[in-house]
Amino acid sequence: MPNQHGRNDVTGENIVTVFGATGFLGRQIVSRLLDKAVDVRAASRHPHRNPLANTSGRRPSRQIEADILDPSQIAAAVVGSRAVVNSVSLYVEHGKQTFERVHVQAAADLATASRDAGVERFVHISGIGSDPRSSSDYIQARGRGEEVVKAAFPGAVIVRSAVMVGPDDAFITAIARLIRLLPIYPLFGDGGTRLQPVHVDDMAEAVSRLASGQIATDASIFECAGPRIYSYRELVREIATRRNVRVTLVPMPFAVWSILASAAELLPGVSLTRNQVELMRRDNVAASDLPGLEDLGIRPRGIEEVVHMMGH
Ligand SMILES: NC(=O)c1ccc[n+]([C@@H]2O[C@H](COP(=O)([O-])OP(=O)(O)OC[C@H]3O[C@@H](n4cnc5c(N)ncnc54)[C@H](OP(=O)(O)O)[C@@H]3O)[C@@H](O)[C@H]2O)c1
Repeated sequence: MPNQHGRNDVTGENIVTVFGATGFLGRQIVSRLLDKAVDVRAASRHPHRNPLANTSGRRPSRQIEADILDPSQIAAAVVGSRAVVNSVSLYVEHGKQTFERVHVQAAADLATASRDAGVERFVHISGIGSDPRSSSDYIQARGRGEEVVKAAFPGAVIVRSAVMVGPDDAFITAIARLIRLLPIYPLFGDGGTRLQPVHVDDMAEAVSRLASGQIATDASIFECAGPRIYSYRELVREIATRRNVRVTLVPMPFAVWSILASAAELLPGVSLTRNQVELMRRDNVAASDLPGLEDLGIRPRGIEEVVHMMGH
């Protein structure tokens, strides 16, 4: 079928529709699926933005407009798909985009529409630590999102990510920038929170193996994390050492961070949210009893390459 850019879906037989295709992870998922000669339908609210414009310059087989809040656009997007990936994200609520609406209701709508359309594989991206009983609205919505997806599409595979790193990420790139700017670096609490950063390419490869059918699995939940567990304090030190920066680390109570984040959410261009602060209160490490990257045949990469590739 000709698409908006006048190209045809390559085979029309193995279409994977990716919601969130313009995002940090979604872009890499699109790229990995194209590597596997899969037809990729990139669904987003910005169908004219080529998700791969700044990397390989390739294009998804098809780019379509779909707001995950609009059930009719969802239904049109998934028609004829062999697999659907939900990599939609929302970190700060605004207007109609609430955690409940995006991470719970819309996730359920997409899973339901996919089941109704006869989609074979549904891959839902979530986060390590998602918990329907959490006191944090965000973490709770992520946990309930997983539940409603499983109810709507019983064979769905949930892929939970640790904090993701990669070129232009929102995590270690920000740390690297701040340690250059600040003579004294404030830690989240005492810096003891344990993290296991995962490379975005490894997450994307995991998702694309599952979505393309390259790997068949009976497992319904994967937790994907990197090769090493750091405390936040160790992670900042490691980045500073690799970047040849001397840094003085000082503890800062979470209550102060919450106040700062509330103010930062009102300012354009400041990337500190109350949810990030909430997430940093909890260890974010893959469960030892759940399958992960190695079970999908992927040897996880560390943060070294990402830190090395950063500009100054
Ligand atoms: N980044 C991390 O460190 C991390 C860690 C753990 C888990 N995760 C999970 O990984 C997944 C991807 O996260 P990310 O960091 O790649 O997110 P991101 O860069 O913020 O991208 C968000 C994506 O969601 C899409 N989106 C938002 N609202 C939408 C709507 N109403 N309709 C359609 N699309 C919408 C955006 O597309 P348009 O704006 O173009 O429509 C964009 O493609 C999420 O489930 C996230 O929770 C991320």
